[in-house]
Amino acid sequence: MEFIELAKERRSAINFQSDIKISDAELQEIFEVVKTHPSSFNIQTTHYYVAKSEEKKAKVKEASYGQHKTLSASATIIVCGDSEGYKEAPRLYEGMKLLGIMDELEYNDTIAAINNLYENNSKFIEDDNIRNACLSAMLFMLAAKDQGWDTCPMHVHNVQTIKEIYKIPENHQPVLMITLGKSVKEKIRPRGYRKPVGEFVHFVD
Ligand SMILES: Cc1cc2nc3c(=O)[nH]c(=O)nc-3n(C[C@H](O)[C@H](O)[C@H](O)COP(=O)(O)O)c2cc1C
Repeated sequence: MEFIELAKERRSAINFQSDIKISDAELQEIFEVVKTHPSSFNIQTTHYYVAKSEEKKAKVKEASYGQHKTLSASATIIVCGDSEGYKEAPRLYEGMKLLGIMDELEYNDTIAAINNLYENNSKFIEDDNIRNACLSAMLFMLAAKDQGWDTCPMHVHNVQTIKEIYKIPENHQPVLMITLGKSVKEKIRPRGYRKPVGEFVHFVD
């Protein structure tokens, strides 16, 4: 699909056909595209927790004010940011140093800059988890659409219960829920009103 067509075709699904399954291989294909998303210092702190079983999705529905699409979806996914992810920077940059893309000095400066920014800065970490996860999630939804799947981005309610259902570790901060499946066609509404460009773009010089 051409990009503009893809962007226009992606809609937030109102409900999903409940008898459709998605395989791990199909999800893997989507995640192979998601891998390319930008992240601060390329530290890739975003993690995805995927539930496909009826049992787990039913629990998620209960924790999500009964929103039915969390159950009818083929997969109900929690997108998280790892609050300790920045500590992986030495490992993530090691390859670049070994390949000579970065010299020792540049490597050390980069690791120091990352530590300086994130260490003991929980507000910044929390905000950055959200920034990185949202950019990743948007790419996830576009990649899914490109491969024939519909999605709906959603808030994560009852965060502690959701963390227990998915066995999400303490340091992974839930940012968004994404339900994925095949949309029930008759439920698709015309796209909601969009502000004209002049109302949200500010040319400052
Ligand atoms: C942060 C966020 C939370 C959302 N939560 C819900 C939700 O709980 N339930 C729902 O049906 N849609 C939810 N949506 C989808 C929006 O309603 C939808 O994106 C918007 O109406 C525009 O529709 P479109 O994506 O089809 O263009 C959410 C979207 C975002 C970005």
